[in-house]
Amino acid sequence: MGEKLRVRRSRRLRQTTLLLGCCLALYCLFFVFRTPVQAGPAATTKPWTLSPDLLRNLSLDVEQCNAAFPGLTKEIDDAVAQGPFTLKQTGDSGPLQGRIKDGQVRRNQMPPLSISNIGHADSQLQLSIIHAQRRADLSTEMINSRTAALHQLHRALITSPTYLPDTIFSLNFQDSPFGTSWTYSRPAADRSQSSSSPGTRNFLMPHFSFWSWPLPFVGSISRAASAITAIESSLPFGEKIPKAVWRGTSWFNSVHNPRLRQNLLKAVKEKSWDWADVEALKWEGGNASNAMGIEDFCRYKYVLHTEGIAYSGRFQFLQMCGSVTVTTPIVWLQHTTHLARPVFSSTLLKAGGGGGGRRGRQGAEAEAAGGGVVVGAHDGRKSGSGMAGKGKKGEGKTWTPSERVRKSWPREYAPEEANIVFVAPDWSDLEDTIGWLEDHPHVAEGIARRQRDMFVGGGYFSPAAEVCYWRALVRGWAEVVRTEGQGWESLEGVPFETFALSNGD
Ligand SMILES: *[C@@H]1O[C@H](CO)[C@@H](O)[C@H](O)[C@H]1NC(C)=O
Ligand SMILES: *[C@@H]1O[C@H](CO)[C@@H](O)[C@H](O)[C@H]1NC(C)=O
Repeated sequence: MGEKLRVRRSRRLRQTTLLLGCCLALYCLFFVFRTPVQAGPAATTKPWTLSPDLLRNLSLDVEQCNAAFPGLTKEIDDAVAQGPFTLKQTGDSGPLQGRIKDGQVRRNQMPPLSISNIGHADSQLQLSIIHAQRRADLSTEMINSRTAALHQLHRALITSPTYLPDTIFSLNFQDSPFGTSWTYSRPAADRSQSSSSPGTRNFLMPHFSFWSWPLPFVGSISRAASAITAIESSLPFGEKIPKAVWRGTSWFNSVHNPRLRQNLLKAVKEKSWDWADVEALKWEGGNASNAMGIEDFCRYKYVLHTEGIAYSGRFQFLQMCGSVTVTTPIVWLQHTTHLARPVFSSTLLKAGGGGGGRRGRQGAEAEAAGGGVVVGAHDGRKSGSGMAGKGKKGEGKTWTPSERVRKSWPREYAPEEANIVFVAPDWSDLEDTIGWLEDHPHVAEGIARRQRDMFVGGGYFSPAAEVCYWRALVRGWAEVVRTEGQGWESLEGVPFETFALSNGD
């Protein structure tokens, strides 16, 4: 398998080289003729210059990955900085454990991968599964998540332009962190609090939805990404529905904030103006009659994000919208959550409520720039049952981010830099916050634009970034994991190609 693959790689490489030559020639021609027209504002208005070809390229090397996606591997770097740890065998009831063998032992004696040695017989990649739960013991969702994760890893390995280190890994495909392993999320505050379980390491891996999420309204990141792009390219922020949108299951909550979703529904019920489109899903025999396609959330100016028992896999879908994501302070981090740049609602409300020059100026700007939709909503609310009364009530109610929140999110961003808004953990200032954003449409639009610019424009959810991340994960993990003396040597495991057929039966 490996050998054939590398032969194919080499053939493909030669073809690609030819193709690249042609592209280069064409590009030069194009460039020569277009330069005078293209130079100018186009280059400066777009903060990201990643081409679609680059974002699809699965074979970027480390330098190219780092240059294209700065900060992508922060989670891995931080975990590596915690230092070495020992990986024990968990047997067949814990996370999946397996081995990657990609020729590190021979790497020192071999030149780097190139066309001349790419088909070397000794350099076969082997991904094998040593411990795995039986298929019969897992739900369909769990099997899907495990299958997805292994294929994601395998895809990143076989497209790697360089050898990866040999290692033994532990992969937790369940929703909550479990022992030392690769995992979908970790508590934001707990990286340094290793006292509860000293020596435990959580290395975050990309979500299974980067492979596929077979729910009727989701699909996969790439399906959603094109659906969202279609919406975003035809619907400017100012024309989006000026409301906060949410659909979800009210009983699905986190231990850190057990009433999160009920509180959201309560905050919305007490509303004094029509600013929310928030509904608990109405389940009818495995089908929710009021569900929405994940891309349709982007039709609203404000999208509400709620975490569940752990992280919410929907987060990265909402982050693709050019809408303002409004959430209680994030408690669970996924592999790119650190790229969120929060401004706290307390900061916004203080800035707007103090009667300072800022509110006046931006208010005026809003009036001048606001289209019919904004002004209409704004007027309706003011003449409605009393933003004035609400505003007064709101003043005493500003929340102060707790120590836990500050520790999880040590840096707060100015409204002009932020790409997400954190409201009070009980949603009590949600209405005031949406009101403030409606009164400051330029700030709101900026936050919305920076979110989409970061995650879509910056390519952090692209196929290229995903495989860059997986390979960095393998490298980072291999650097600090210690496996000696745990009896791993005698275990061969089942080759991935075989495991993928039976899936643990
Ligand atoms: C992907 O990037 C690598 C490294 O720059 C390059 O050699 C290769 O041709 C690219 N592949 C495609 C399909 O563009
Ligand atoms: C779920 O509801 C939608 C919309 O009402 C309908 O089109 C679909 O067929 C339903 N699916 C199932 C499995 O009942």
